Amino acid sequence: MRVPCHPRSPPPAVLFEGVSFRYGGDRGGVSGVDLALPAGSITALAGGSGAGKTTLARLLVGLARPESGRILVNGSDLTTLAPDAWRSRLAWVPQAPYFTSGTVRENLLLGRPDADEDQIHTALEAAAADQFISHLPQGLHTPLGERGAGLSGGELRRLALARAYLCHATLVVLDEPTAGLDPESERLVCTALERLARGRTVLVISHREQTLSGVDRVAEMIDGRIERVVSPAEYLSPMGAAT
Ligand SMILES: Nc1ncnc2c1ncn2[C@@H]1O[C@H](COP(=O)(O)OP(=O)(O)OP(=O)(O)O)[C@@H](O)[C@H]1O
Ligand SMILES: [Mg+2]
Repeated sequence: MRVPCHPRSPPPAVLFEGVSFRYGGDRGGVSGVDLALPAGSITALAGGSGAGKTTLARLLVGLARPESGRILVNGSDLTTLAPDAWRSRLAWVPQAPYFTSGTVRENLLLGRPDADEDQIHTALEAAAADQFISHLPQGLHTPLGERGAGLSGGELRRLALARAYLCHATLVVLDEPTAGLDPESERLVCTALERLARGRTVLVISHREQTLSGVDRVAEMIDGRIERVVSPAEYLSPMGAAT
């Protein structure tokens, strides 16, 4: 029997209140961001290159601190939470996910060393990664190496999603998980993302139509600010395009 790997605690509600951050000088960063990520929802962050999407994600995962404003997690200011405790509750999947040169299995266990075989297989199934891993010469024991064991970009993304699924994260932040994928790989990654999102709060950066169509709300950033928060249908409708 498969053991579901649901997160241990309920998903958090996140609130950005007047959050600003600058990289130095006048350019870049984000300013005056007000944005709610309701508990258990998927919010997409869309917008052009340089709009501030990655910056906002980095603030949320604690890689940078707001210069003004605050980020509330279930009502508590992020800066007052113990960094280790906060890190254990979140999964950050950057655009180029990090893998060690160890085996597939070792990489999956990075966020949850005590996971057992059933839990690993459940996570791989959820991420639609079980098939291609079973075809690797040594399966889960195949070394990833620097070049990712010859896995494709879409396969490595799904491995990163399986790792996020496996850990006890209740907040998942993903930076363009479907960038550069063909439509079929994107479909698989989107399915994996929907499964991963169950029981978690998710912020996913994307401008891809297929990815955006599966989220609850789309927040559009322009020039470091949140321009609007709309439904995917409204965002993707030609009539709904921001002027
Ligand atoms: N390390 C940095 N130092 C200085 N400026 C930076 C730095 N990182 C980002 N910026 C600037 O901050 C702004 C927002 O960058 P950010 O990476 O958040 O944009 P983005 O919306 O994620 O863009 P993309 O879609 O290209 O990934 C840009 O003008 C960028 O040049
Ligand atoms: Mg970015």
